[in-house]
Amino acid sequence: MRAVQLSQFGGPEVLQLIETATPVPGHGQVLVRVRAVGVNLADTLMRADRYAMTPPLPCVLGNEIAGTIESIGAGVEGLKIGSRVAVPLFAAGIFFGGYAETVLVDAGILVPMPDALSFEDATALLVQGLTALHLTLQAPPAGKTVLINAAAGGVGSLLVQLAKRAGAKTIIAAASTSSKLDFVRALGADVGVNYTESTWTDDVRAATGGNGPDIIYESVGGDVTRDSLNVLAPLGRMLIYGALNIQSFALGVPELLGLIFKNQSVGGFALVPLLTPENLKAGLGELFALCISGELKVTIGGVHPLAEAGAAHRALESRGTMGKILLTP
Ligand SMILES: NC(=O)c1ccc[n+]([C@@H]2O[C@H](COP(=O)([O-])OP(=O)(O)OC[C@H]3O[C@@H](n4cnc5c(N)ncnc54)[C@H](OP(=O)(O)O)[C@@H]3O)[C@@H](O)[C@H]2O)c1
Repeated sequence: MRAVQLSQFGGPEVLQLIETATPVPGHGQVLVRVRAVGVNLADTLMRADRYAMTPPLPCVLGNEIAGTIESIGAGVEGLKIGSRVAVPLFAAGIFFGGYAETVLVDAGILVPMPDALSFEDATALLVQGLTALHLTLQAPPAGKTVLINAAAGGVGSLLVQLAKRAGAKTIIAAASTSSKLDFVRALGADVGVNYTESTWTDDVRAATGGNGPDIIYESVGGDVTRDSLNVLAPLGRMLIYGALNIQSFALGVPELLGLIFKNQSVGGFALVPLLTPENLKAGLGELFALCISGELKVTIGGVHPLAEAGAAHRALESRGTMGKILLTP
């Protein structure tokens, strides 16, 4: 089978298509034929050795796939060859193996996929859908004014819609280009703000009657984190779930005094530690049903052949994508 191997850290060009033996499922395992693999910003950081942990080399990136059951090992009950399945590898603490034609997994981590759901949409709802869903659970937007940064990205585009469904009073979506802002307004954002403009926080204040947003979902870092904190409402909460420019922001004495005197809080968010077998199944069930009914629109921003994984990484790093980026073998 073919897979995309990372054998040295570097730019997108270090991702190499290789031929390797197709694995055979052992006891309790299933071999899944991959139909869609999610590409995430975390993969690009791992490729460049800029992620929180250094991947072991050589490795195959990719922690979320959807496909069909190709073969079944001994001791596996109740599964059929050909069944459609989503595989949230990350939920089992597995961050590798997805950029391949087949993936060997423990049977217990498979999630059955409804026939009405495409492999592409299912994959987009794994890391990004669950992240958006759990962000709304950790910082419930009902009745609140919310600011969603990086709103046109994979997580952001789903979060805009889920925050609206959860009853947000006003959704301010921030992104870097006018086409991204058109996109997020079409998804239901009340106001679009370009945070590359120096006056962007004035626009956020204006959209909130001068008070600032009650909740900010933040993943950009650097000046955007600092500016967001400056515009947060009294008693407000900013949840930080991404760390693209983590080096260029620090909570110093002025920021901490601001938090104290304005009764604000800043919290962190990581999806994987929040997942349990029960809420994983329930969350994906909810997301799949919303997608099938058309209440949640998944945007596939690009599908690249496995051999062009480097192009998918370049697209994400160029900051030019909207919605989910995928590979298909
Ligand atoms: N904590 C968790 O559990 C968790 C889970 C999933 C994702 N994440 C993180 O959440 C963030 C968003 O994820 P995503 O899947 O939505 O990513 P995505 O689809 O690639 O979107 C990321 C967005 O961030 C903005 N951005 C700002 N600076 C950027 C830069 N230097 N390079 C690339 N993009 C930049 C871009 O929008 P503009 O051009 O509009 O600024 C881009 O569309 C990422 O940092 C990801 O690692 C965290």
